[in-house]
Amino acid sequence: MSFRERVFSGVQPTGNLHLGNYLGAIKRFVALQASHDCIYCVVDMHAMTVWQEPSELARNTREVTAAFLACGIDPEKHIVFNQSQVAEHAELAWVFSCVARVGWLNRMTQFKEKAGKDRENASVGLYSYPVLMASDILVYRATHVPVGEDQKQHLELARDIAQKFNNDFAESIRGHGHGDAFFPLPEPLIQGPATRVMSLRDGTKKMSKSDPSDYSRINLTDDADAIAQKIRKAKTDPEPLPHDVAALERRPEADNLVGIYAALKDVTKADVLAEFGGAQFSTFKAALIDLAVSVLGPIGSEMKRLVRDPAYIDSVLASGAERARVIASETMQAVKQIVGFVGR
Ligand code: TYM
Repeated sequence: MSFRERVFSGVQPTGNLHLGNYLGAIKRFVALQASHDCIYCVVDMHAMTVWQEPSELARNTREVTAAFLACGIDPEKHIVFNQSQVAEHAELAWVFSCVARVGWLNRMTQFKEKAGKDRENASVGLYSYPVLMASDILVYRATHVPVGEDQKQHLELARDIAQKFNNDFAESIRGHGHGDAFFPLPEPLIQGPATRVMSLRDGTKKMSKSDPSDYSRINLTDDADAIAQKIRKAKTDPEPLPHDVAALERRPEADNLVGIYAALKDVTKADVLAEFGGAQFSTFKAALIDLAVSVLGPIGSEMKRLVRDPAYIDSVLASGAERARVIASETMQAVKQIVGFVGR
């Protein structure tokens, strides 16, 4: 059975949106609007899997929404909302908790990283996080999910859950006239030169919100001076830039900066090396600073302008949630019928 193409993705409101979130995800969200129906979600329920100060959670939810809008997501043509406003995400997550196997969740590397040594003390939500993520996607029966590389394993789990649901309930799905398969197997869209942006201090570590050093990342709200300073201080090696991409393989810091430049400019790494091969880092960094400031500067100022008007942001989220609910409740009603829950 073929499913109508629909894009879904989410971003956690946990503070400090950075260049990795932008290049690996949000910039891709923007591009997909031209070809697909898109649903973009601020996943506040996911954020809660580790402690969030309530007032900070609300502030960060509005800030991620502002980032979506400032980057060019159109909340009228597409749907922008926060997860907790559509109860069906949690409702479907329960059904999926009974479909997913403990062994599947035990393999999730992100849980192991985030829970660290004190695993006994991690929240149950942090453990079952990928089940809620599968519900986010499948409650809209979304077919395509743009994400950075770090989410690949979670997407595989979402596919496994969809597949097992379709198999376990095959008879009922057909019996109720829902075709051969009720859920699509969502495809990750992990593409482009910046699917894994690395720390500016260490080219072998992912750029992340939780890195204690602010010099490791460029935040979307950084001003021109901060961007310039962070790029100037970014770790490099002593060689000039190579002429071909293969030579970047053992040079993680060079590879990262070239990837960032390519993604910001919408070209390939090979294009960047055609222009800068043989150049010293000082020359390349100066060009990267100009480029980064010209792309990120306007986004940062628009975000700051938007967050000053929380009533407007809240109205965007409310209207997005209302439209999301229509789709989600239709899916949930069918799921209830399929699994044998009585009533509407
Ligand atoms: P989150 O909030 O950690 O990150 C949001 C998006 O940014 C991408 N990303 C990166 N991409 C490239 N380089 C990096 N250094 C980098 N850091 C982060 C992430 O891959 C992600 O696409 N579990 C998700 C949120 C989520 C979700 C969903 C995503 C919840 N439900 C349903 C897709 C579909 C997360 O924690 O992303």
